[in-house]
Amino acid sequence: MDKQALLKKTEQINTVIEAFLPKEGEYDQLIVNAMNYSVLAGGKRLRPLMMQTAFHVFANDTKEPEILHRFMAAIECIHTYSLCHDDLPSMDNDMYRRGNLTTHAKYGEAFGILAGDGLLNYAFELIAEGMLQEEAAALAKDVHAFCVLAEKAGYRGMVGGQSLDVFLDQTQDADTKQEQLEYIYRTKTSALLEASFMIGAILAGASEQEISILEDVAGKTGFAFQIQDDILDLTGDEEVIGKPIHSDEKNGKKTFVSFAGLEQAKKAVEEYSMDAVRLLDEIPYPTDEMKELITYLMDRDN
Ligand code: IPE
Ligand code: IPE
Ligand code: MG
Ligand code: MG
Ligand code: MG
Repeated sequence: MDKQALLKKTEQINTVIEAFLPKEGEYDQLIVNAMNYSVLAGGKRLRPLMMQTAFHVFANDTKEPEILHRFMAAIECIHTYSLCHDDLPSMDNDMYRRGNLTTHAKYGEAFGILAGDGLLNYAFELIAEGMLQEEAAALAKDVHAFCVLAEKAGYRGMVGGQSLDVFLDQTQDADTKQEQLEYIYRTKTSALLEASFMIGAILAGASEQEISILEDVAGKTGFAFQIQDDILDLTGDEEVIGKPIHSDEKNGKKTFVSFAGLEQAKKAVEEYSMDAVRLLDEIPYPTDEMKELITYLMDRDN
């Protein structure tokens, strides 16, 4: 997969997301604007793309059900909320994201928090509303996917990882251990990627075993993805990544790069990615698109 092909897919996903964005009423313009600002600022849309790709590996039909689109929009809302909060002065204190001012820099700190809160709740509203329109027979899959999303986004997932991440940043003399770093990567980043592959597969009717393999594949992909993010924080081009470089250094953050050095980190990105690709051979259906995506991400420059 090349960047052009990926951008085309991103455009299609943007259309899906835009169809589900919140609409403003009389007194909620400011919060709705702040929520939509952060979603529409851009982004690679990796999580909805992973979900859609996983769905097509297991679905009999190429037609995409509305509930899949709702989950795709929802996971992007949750991811965007995590970025709004990650950029806050009390967390990474960054002013630039997706090539624009961060939400708190544009709308003030309170709205940086509230936009995130709004997006998180709206994500689950979008899915629950879709479930109300589903046939009874499909509901068990929907509820399963709903639970996966809630767990992977919460304290055992993304929120848990962000918590240890900021705790260690903000604790003087904290001696970060390798296992703590691994816990952080597995939760703050891998968890939402796991949810993406798993939910696509669940909605398409994959078996428990297949879902579990995909969880593992996405877990490894997430590790590689976060290490590459740390590398780009050091060596990336701000115009291309759309966010400030040296943010980790500014915050005194321990990353895989500061632990093992740049060369080892690059090797680790390749190793985790290749492990993920190999593991996909255990899926008894064609997974070429997943493999291409994982391989593409390995060398990404944004
Ligand atoms: C940034 O995620 C935060 C990490 C988990 C590394 P992305 O790199 O997917 O950010 P966007 O969505 O493209 O802006
Ligand atoms: C944050 O990791 C991951 C999230 C869950 C938001 P980073 O703090 O490294 O993400 P960036 O570099 O700001 O996108
Ligand atoms: Mg952070
Ligand atoms: Mg950050
Ligand atoms: Mg980073």
